[in-house]
Amino acid sequence: MSRAAEGVLRRNWREGRDRAARSYAFTCPAPPRYRHQWYWDSCFHAIVWRHLDPSRARAELRTLLQAGRPDGFIPHTVFWHSPARWRRAPLYPTRSWRGDTSTESTQTPLLALAWELVADASDNDPGFRNEAVDALARHYDWLDRERDPDGDGLITIVFPDESGLDDSPKYDPVYRWLAHHRVGSFWLIERARRLGYSSHQVIARWPEHVEDVLVNVGYALALRALSRLLGEPGDGEYATRARRTEQALLERSLDERSGLFYDLAGPRERPVRVSTWSALAPLALDGVPEDVRRRLVEEHLLHPRRYLAPTGIPSVALEERTFTPGFDRWRCWRGPAWMNTAWFLVPPMRALGYEREASRVVASLAAAVERHGFREYYNPITGAGLGARQFSFSTLLVDLLG
Ligand code: GLC
Repeated sequence: MSRAAEGVLRRNWREGRDRAARSYAFTCPAPPRYRHQWYWDSCFHAIVWRHLDPSRARAELRTLLQAGRPDGFIPHTVFWHSPARWRRAPLYPTRSWRGDTSTESTQTPLLALAWELVADASDNDPGFRNEAVDALARHYDWLDRERDPDGDGLITIVFPDESGLDDSPKYDPVYRWLAHHRVGSFWLIERARRLGYSSHQVIARWPEHVEDVLVNVGYALALRALSRLLGEPGDGEYATRARRTEQALLERSLDERSGLFYDLAGPRERPVRVSTWSALAPLALDGVPEDVRRRLVEEHLLHPRRYLAPTGIPSVALEERTFTPGFDRWRCWRGPAWMNTAWFLVPPMRALGYEREASRVVASLAAAVERHGFREYYNPITGAGLGARQFSFSTLLVDLLG
């Protein structure tokens, strides 16, 4: 399995210099469809590369960080070797319609988490651990400053794909005709472009924005990793901020009745009561009390009408009206099982003692990969491989098997 994974990652590896002579080295998610560098994909790739060739893991994370701005912003997509030309511009939140090297949107901020995991595998390059702590801190300060205007500890996304869960049905009631797969997504981008992508202005002016559970779980995990990279004491600045985000998820997102964590939408922070795997993601947070986490496993992950499926973990609860297990040309995250979902949820299942159930999830995904290769996602009912082929972050299976 690890040889096959390495084959996919090597095939998708790109390095060179861009037009401004900046050198880059990263893994494309799956050419020709996904040819650029994506923020969270690169974090997942680096997490796998660290087992196979840690120097590539480091290069990929350094490249991602280098694509950021001095103020700490890091883009969702970077067009290193093939610029987003005018044809694609309406689909990407770029500053202008041509010539941009990256988007003005960001993605679930996992960088410090990936950095720490790669540093732990970098005995032959010990300087890696500390070389970027200031730049990483600036990134998380940017998120705090720009994306938490109400100061409640939960950061906000302004475009649905900033979570990485582009078309998730949890965004339907929030974005409606502006959703990622609807024609209005062009307007969602254009009106933010007209405000210069100022997060504060976009959030103040329009109601379509979300305090997203998955994004905040990634944020809290990364803040904890950053705190460790900085060698802070437990009550240091970033550890305290992580705790604050975890506490806010518990106090504001947790729905006592269902035991799920719901996104909070718009200025009134309306809970979005749709069961997607993002509502289970706080399982990955040690700061969430054990009884709350056990409920997520027993009442949802292992419930036959919810997330217990023959292959992997479905991205939407089986009993949701919008659950769609198969391929849809325009939509993803509406039912199929993705490898990174298992990567987030399986280790905490194991930690809570659900070893047999966790191993079953991993074995079902390994069987799907053996049969269909590293596909973008899988039908959770039939195990069929769907979407892009030779999809890089599906190699996270290697980390799960390790
Ligand atoms: C799709 C996925 C997103 C991923 C991107 C590149 O848009 O929804 O999560 O980052 O592809 O692989």
